[in-house]
Amino acid sequence: MLYVPSSDESKIKKSLGIEVDSIIYDLEDGVPVNRKGQARELVTNALNLNQTPKVELAVRMNALGSGFEMDDLNVILQSKKLNTVIVPKVEHPNTVSFVSRMIDNVASSENRNKIGIVACIESAKGLINIKDIAAADKRVNALLVCIDIHDKNILTEESREGAEMGFTGKQVIHPGQIDIVQKVFVPSDVIMLKAWRIVQGYKQSMAAGKGAFDLEGQVIDLPLVKWAERILEKARLAGIDVESKYAKKY
Ligand code: COA
Ligand code: MG
Repeated sequence: MLYVPSSDESKIKKSLGIEVDSIIYDLEDGVPVNRKGQARELVTNALNLNQTPKVELAVRMNALGSGFEMDDLNVILQSKKLNTVIVPKVEHPNTVSFVSRMIDNVASSENRNKIGIVACIESAKGLINIKDIAAADKRVNALLVCIDIHDKNILTEESREGAEMGFTGKQVIHPGQIDIVQKVFVPSDVIMLKAWRIVQGYKQSMAAGKGAFDLEGQVIDLPLVKWAERILEKARLAGIDVESKYAKKY
């Protein structure tokens, strides 16, 4: 998820050709307070212009209580291209419910069911309420826990840490960080091969009318098969041709 400061025309232009999973046009901390109005206009244009296939188009609004939130929502929710509202500094489920009601009331009827919410957990209070925030509304489709990023070793380390905790991606603020993060979150060859063999083994086991089976001394049952299918699906989404990579060899 690449942040693009929405008051910076040249970075907005650059964002139109960058391949990441999500582009987050930022209206919040990346934009000086005296340029919020101009940034909203630039975001509206950028959403219309961005034609990168499959990229999720998101906008990070200003926090509730900042005084900028109503103008942000009233502008960005007019866009037919908006996929996701990133809500910063969420500490309470009501914040999410409020944004969801705004989507119901402001977004056009053909769009409103497609717009998701990502809640950013940035404080101890947010962390304590994380379960209620996640469950506050059906539009919440992800949680972000914000971290500052300085050098590339720290970035690699933090990405690995996140992946181990079960996160599926990471926020970046500079195009130079994209490769590192994508590498860490795409399954490694070792993991992909294991997943492939589990899925294949399960198919054979099913065909033979059996359930769990043995793969080199490890019992493979349904939860592991589901894990393996998720790994392969993630690899496919990252552009890896899993079938031709493994089908002949294994
Ligand atoms: N989005 C799009 N393009 C970006 C970018 C971003 N976030 N960050 C850098 N670029 C572009 C630059 O415009 C430059 O393009 P060019 O080669 O065509 O001129 C190129 O990538 C190289 O950038 P570089 O000169 O190394 O960095 P910079 O000094 O221009 O910008 C930052 C550095 C940190 C100011 C910039 O990355 C940035 O603003 N990041 C976003 C910060 C943000 O949004 N923070 C809030 C979220 S936590
Ligand atoms: Mg520069």
